[in-house]
Amino acid sequence: MTAQPTNLAGIDVRAEIERLRKERNAVILAHYYQKPEIQDLADFVGDSLELSKKAAATDADVIAFCGVKFMADTAKILSPQKIVILPDLDAGCSLEDSCPPEKFKAFREAHPDHIALTYINCSTEVKALSDVIVTSSSAETILAQIPPEQKIIFGPDRHLGGYLNRKFGRDMLLWPGVCIVHEAFSETELLKLKAQHPGAPIAAHPECPPTIVDHADYVGSTSGILQFAKTFPGDTLIVATEPHIIHQMQLALPEKTFIGAPGADGNCNCNICPYMALNTLEKLYVALRDLQPRIEIEEGLRLGAKKSLDAMLAMASGTVGKGDLGRA
Ligand code: 13P
Ligand code: SF4
Repeated sequence: MTAQPTNLAGIDVRAEIERLRKERNAVILAHYYQKPEIQDLADFVGDSLELSKKAAATDADVIAFCGVKFMADTAKILSPQKIVILPDLDAGCSLEDSCPPEKFKAFREAHPDHIALTYINCSTEVKALSDVIVTSSSAETILAQIPPEQKIIFGPDRHLGGYLNRKFGRDMLLWPGVCIVHEAFSETELLKLKAQHPGAPIAAHPECPPTIVDHADYVGSTSGILQFAKTFPGDTLIVATEPHIIHQMQLALPEKTFIGAPGADGNCNCNICPYMALNTLEKLYVALRDLQPRIEIEEGLRLGAKKSLDAMLAMASGTVGKGDLGRA
């Protein structure tokens, strides 16, 4: 059940979040795609891999996860003794939705000589059906450890899988899922924007289709794109990923200009993740107050999913950042 702010009139939501955070011994984790007001009060803002690691290592009693459900599920899988709350349980992900576990199971069974290398943007059930999980910041490092002759199924994001195939000369079998947010960038509009800012590089997330990625000067995870933004020599950067990450860029480099890549009509809001946007400060306050909505996962399923996440953490360890998908 989703926590619904009812009558919050007269309540100082920020002050209450501060009070409850201490009272509950809670840590607030936020993804870069969260609204700026949530990023600003989080204890830690990061990409999928960094947030998984924080969730696994925290000594807090409560993890208030400001992101989407598969990320909060991952926190619970790795930290089962903690209470994990998500401000809005409906904060899903189009990639997770594109990969129903029963269809993924049948696909795996049809390819018994393949291992399943699976993007973290999937359900707990699909993680339990997989061999190794990857995030966009760990995929390259992990793929490099798998012998070239090993046959691989990669799901659910066909664009990330295709990008890896092209870059590393692999022929992984791709599940046909896409992120509706990154799919919405328009090549025509991007080229028009580029013509207006000829010197500005383009940084893109590998969830973008090849029509966008092929124009990018840098391709990488959210943390990789942020790192690129902090180090590129120019004064203007075009950012082809969910635009809320620009908040961190502006905080770090207020003198530079960061422009979100456009969608089909040139200036639509179609690149804002509608799932991430479901979380609000008010819902976070109610979730901390009620310790609901809470993530619960059946223990057998959790242990199955933990195996593929543990494989990711082991294979990615010590190389985060260096092994990013980035190309400068
Ligand atoms: P990152 O792992 O790069 O943070 O990506 C998460 C995500 O959902 C991108 O859409
Ligand atoms: Fe899922 Fe796309 Fe939203 Fe990321 S941006 S959470 S992949 S729908």
